[in-house]
Amino acid sequence: MPRYLITSALPYISDAKHLGNLVGSMLPADVYARFLRLRGEDVLYICATDEHGTPAELAALNAGLEVSEYCRKQHAVLKGLCEGFFLAFDHFGRSSSPQNHELTKHFADMLERNGLIEERTTQQMFSVAENRFLPDRYVVGTCPHCGYTGARGDQCENCTNLLEPGDLIEPRSSVSGSTELEMRETKHLFLRQSLMTDRLRAWIEQHEDWPVLVRSIALKWLDEGIKDRSITRDLKWGIPVDRPGFENKVFYVWFDAPIEYIGATKEWSDAHPAGRDWKSWWVDPADVRYVQFMAKDNIPFHTVTFPATIMGSGEPWKLVDFVKGFNWLNYYGGKFSTSGKRGVFMADALELLPADYWRYQLMANAPEGADATFTWEIFADTVNKDLADTFGNFVNRVVKLVAMHFEAKVPAYGEATTEENDLLEGLREHGGALTASLESLQFRKAVQSLKAMWASGNIYLDRTAPWKSIKADRDAAGHVLAVSINLIRVFATASLPFIPDTGARVLRALRIGPGSSRWLPGDFSSELRLATAGSPVDDPGVLFKKVLPEDVAAWSARFAGSERR
Ligand code: MF3
Ligand code: ZN
Repeated sequence: MPRYLITSALPYISDAKHLGNLVGSMLPADVYARFLRLRGEDVLYICATDEHGTPAELAALNAGLEVSEYCRKQHAVLKGLCEGFFLAFDHFGRSSSPQNHELTKHFADMLERNGLIEERTTQQMFSVAENRFLPDRYVVGTCPHCGYTGARGDQCENCTNLLEPGDLIEPRSSVSGSTELEMRETKHLFLRQSLMTDRLRAWIEQHEDWPVLVRSIALKWLDEGIKDRSITRDLKWGIPVDRPGFENKVFYVWFDAPIEYIGATKEWSDAHPAGRDWKSWWVDPADVRYVQFMAKDNIPFHTVTFPATIMGSGEPWKLVDFVKGFNWLNYYGGKFSTSGKRGVFMADALELLPADYWRYQLMANAPEGADATFTWEIFADTVNKDLADTFGNFVNRVVKLVAMHFEAKVPAYGEATTEENDLLEGLREHGGALTASLESLQFRKAVQSLKAMWASGNIYLDRTAPWKSIKADRDAAGHVLAVSINLIRVFATASLPFIPDTGARVLRALRIGPGSSRWLPGDFSSELRLATAGSPVDDPGVLFKKVLPEDVAAWSARFAGSERR
């Protein structure tokens, strides 16, 4: 039995997280982790805040706080939001932790020892007005690849190409706006990734099962030729480089951030050293399947640069087995924009509606095969049709009838009927497809199967119409309702990875406690007789309110943002 190590890309400490960020890494990773846990698998789901780099320094500057203080506060904010969305990490760490400092230095030492680090004298942007070197994001300008005018010195947000500040056309300082920049000489450490091209290519090509998006981005990088990359920056905040002449420099955030996957595991382990062993997950574990989740701009770092660090260490650290990459979620066809307040952010979302509405809708509309778009119309449609009319309605109908005619207790079972055989057939088909889609991390398909399962319950009820048969044949109606109570349990269980709060609430109404649920079996024939006749059925209340046309109007106006971005 494999153990599953799951990580989702570490959110930058400084950005407000919008729904696109959520659906591009943390949410699907959580769905997958929950599914595996329900199957009784040994799962470790790790995430953390990515706290170093220029964005954090710039944001702290804006907020008028020390960077360390700013990060401490923001980490707590983000942690709270993740809890609000029921993201069940085993540990939510911080890339600024002592564990990560230690590991990052260790990796740098090993790379050095293996001849993969080179000290090079480079020309770097120096801002005369600010009297300092400007690292990556402190410089903005026009992208040489696509012409986007807001490109940052580390990466073009528009075309995802990685950049060096010197690549930018018409560069300016992002803090002061000054264009009085000149190239001056300084020293940096370079990771000689180019020496590892063949190893990386062989390793990537061996993973034929990776999504097309992931393989194509990774191979495109190799085809273009991997350049050696500077892994140090002129910043104060970060992991210091112990080397003469590097007193004012720290490691580049993209060097230390992925190492925090390991660092956060060590944080988790150090908190309870008796029962947890971080090394068993990371150092040559024969039985660990490691799955990473991320949006597409992160793919090069996880398929090329971080693997180069790992391979280059010469030590048997665990490499990723499966990379699940996501496209972009847009807001009405355009970008979500933090500065323009365009689109829905995690904090806004929780203010409007409970997390499960968002979790379900985002997974149903995940940007899996292509970019997807969020609109309030689509949101309302999905919530109303799937959650309210299909799942919610089924639970409600059954619970109401049982309360009205059978004193809110599971009625007695009778003989299986034709309708029930058809029902079982549907459950086998859709339940099997749901399981298969989750195993292969195809989330949109999984949601479609879940919805089809729920719908089969309503079809069964419509065909058997217990509200009619109750007068002529009370036993037959009772049988249908008893079967339906079991269906509620099956449907709620199947929903747990997606809508854990509502799923658990429904199960509680059937007096099934948290932790006692197991994932769906392949064959459902015994599943429809599990509830004991005579046991109580509580009313869980209205599960999902409908999103009304006036909500759509109000929310689209509220989140439209200003024109600027
Ligand atoms: N902070 C990065 C982002 O939001 C992701 C970092 S992932 C890790 O795009 F590899 F660094 F961990
Ligand atoms: Zn570009």
